[in-house]
Amino acid sequence: MATVVVVGTQWGDEGKGRVTDLLARKAHFVVRYQGGNNAGHTVIIGDDEFKLHLIPSGILSPGKTAVMAAGTVIDPLVLADELEKLERRGVDVSGYRVSGNAHVIMPYHCLLDRLEEERRGEAKIGTTCRGIGPAYVDKAARCGIRMYDLFEPARLRGRLERVLTDKNALLTGVYGHPPLSVDAMIGEIAPALPKIEPYVADTASLLSEAVKQGKNILFEGAQGTFLDLDYGTYPFITSSHPIAGGACLGTGIGPSQIDRVIGVTKAYTTRVGAGTFPTELNDAVGDHIREKGKEYGTTTGRPRRCGWLDAVLLRSAAMINGLDAIAVTRLDILDELDKIDICVEYSLNGRAVQFFPADIELLPSCAPVWEQLPGWQQDTSGARTYGELPLNARRYLERIGELCGVKVAVVCVGPRRHEAIVLDNMFP
Ligand code: IMP
Repeated sequence: MATVVVVGTQWGDEGKGRVTDLLARKAHFVVRYQGGNNAGHTVIIGDDEFKLHLIPSGILSPGKTAVMAAGTVIDPLVLADELEKLERRGVDVSGYRVSGNAHVIMPYHCLLDRLEEERRGEAKIGTTCRGIGPAYVDKAARCGIRMYDLFEPARLRGRLERVLTDKNALLTGVYGHPPLSVDAMIGEIAPALPKIEPYVADTASLLSEAVKQGKNILFEGAQGTFLDLDYGTYPFITSSHPIAGGACLGTGIGPSQIDRVIGVTKAYTTRVGAGTFPTELNDAVGDHIREKGKEYGTTTGRPRRCGWLDAVLLRSAAMINGLDAIAVTRLDILDELDKIDICVEYSLNGRAVQFFPADIELLPSCAPVWEQLPGWQQDTSGARTYGELPLNARRYLERIGELCGVKVAVVCVGPRRHEAIVLDNMFP
């Protein structure tokens, strides 16, 4: 059996869904352990493009169990809609399970996310406004609603009565917003409940049993290492733990039961929302990457900030996640470029820095130290073996592996399922 974690090594959008989809062929279970519908995966199968926000992309491979574990946050309306859309397109969703202990994103979480961002003004985080942060705040404050609560009307009403007393004080007192009623909240989510109830389960026991039975389990991280609540570029982060360790927290699987960790990196770097981005390109090359790579958010449609690959970021991600291998996605987006820069280290007050500064406030003072490699100026999208890649593309990949000290196991050269080169089978 093997349990593998797929984790983003940058600021999200690395193409984890794409890599998960590739590896999911050998997995029996595909599991999300954190985040909610702030995520967005695009998976292309044949001529069909699937955009998923909540349900693990493993659902698209028949016969898999696709799980959202206790560490995730669930907007019931979005979940019901996603299940319906998949069914309408003929996808079998019977293998979907969501933890009864996952916290629920209620309509007031989405409202508060938006009001808080507006109030922050210039200092806004640039959240997806999907209610993620406020839902995790309530979880930590012990006043959240969990999936199981949704199907116990008296319990749900009692919890909402207590929590809305506080939320209404905040809404009216701080934001000048009219108060919300318990009936309105229940009425808003009620249509989604019959659709999602059949899928609610004790996922910790389900996964523990799967481990005992020697099943292959793929843990699919959402967002990326540098959006992690503890290890990311605080406060410009999400409110959960996208790092590999989050897979244990979020699912109830013990650390000794994780076999391998694969980090996913784009062949360049992108970021959505605010925060320092040392290798950002505000020029024609950045625009070229954005347009060729269609670098616009799957969830919000926002243009992504684009830049060169940052080996400091990757090296730090390798350390924090204990990476065994990396998957490099979107190599083909760099095909036309005649020169490619990599940031190999930072210079901080004249000192060479190999890892992200622990005091993240120092990041804006870090200047990238560049190494320039020749481009390959050839179409790589047809390559199916490593040897079919142009020499300069292989040199680029080898340099990435050297710089972060982790071998490249997968290279993606296009968005379709078969447009990939698998150098190492991740499920031994
Ligand atoms: P939140 O997760 O909506 O609270 O947003 C917090 C930060 O994380 C913002 O900078 C978002 O742009 C970023 N973020 C959240 N989810 C994703 C994602 O899936 N990809 C990239 N950035 C994300």
